[in-house]
Amino acid sequence: MPAYVHHFDSGPNLAAPPLLLLHGTGGNERSLLPLGRGLSPGSALLSPRGQVDENSALRFFRRHAEGILDLEDLAARAREMADFVATAATRYHFDPARLVAVGFSNGANLAAAMLLLRPESLAAAVLLRPMMGLDPSPAPDLAGKRVLILSGALDPIVPPADPARLEAVFRAAGAEVERHSFNTGHGFTQADIAAAQRFLRPAVYN
Ligand code: MLT
Repeated sequence: MPAYVHHFDSGPNLAAPPLLLLHGTGGNERSLLPLGRGLSPGSALLSPRGQVDENSALRFFRRHAEGILDLEDLAARAREMADFVATAATRYHFDPARLVAVGFSNGANLAAAMLLLRPESLAAAVLLRPMMGLDPSPAPDLAGKRVLILSGALDPIVPPADPARLEAVFRAAGAEVERHSFNTGHGFTQADIAAAQRFLRPAVYN
């Protein structure tokens, strides 16, 4: 198994989709556990820790500067995370075909890259404050995949045009995309949580 420090919590409800929690810059494998539990109380939670150390702040991939992502590193680490998830599914006995990524900021960017480069690794993704990252050509086939993009209209980190650009990339690949912008900044709020709960509802209760 690739060397990701991680937390795994087998949820009490096998019918609920397993969640892959991907934290933001400066977080760790525990940061999004309360969010994951709040979104889907019964789900198994797999929460890895980013391996890139940026001045003691952990991330999932490198960046050249704030807002300037290292796309080559992003692509390599997205593939690595897809491999990790496949191994973890065998080890922890969750269904990888139902895995939903919930990523915040840096973790949202990684989740988007995973869907674009290794579509089989995720069924859906909840992207909280993502930036525009990869735009692979040819586009992958993301038919049947669901993506939720949640952005902040006052976000000082994500360029204002990025959420719509990312939506266009996913739509061009055939994914079903829902996008909302809230009147807030980079941090996520109760409105994000409510939107994510609505988005997950069909997967949680079916
Ligand atoms: C990034 O990946 O660099 C983010 O979108 C911004 C951050 O993590 O602070």
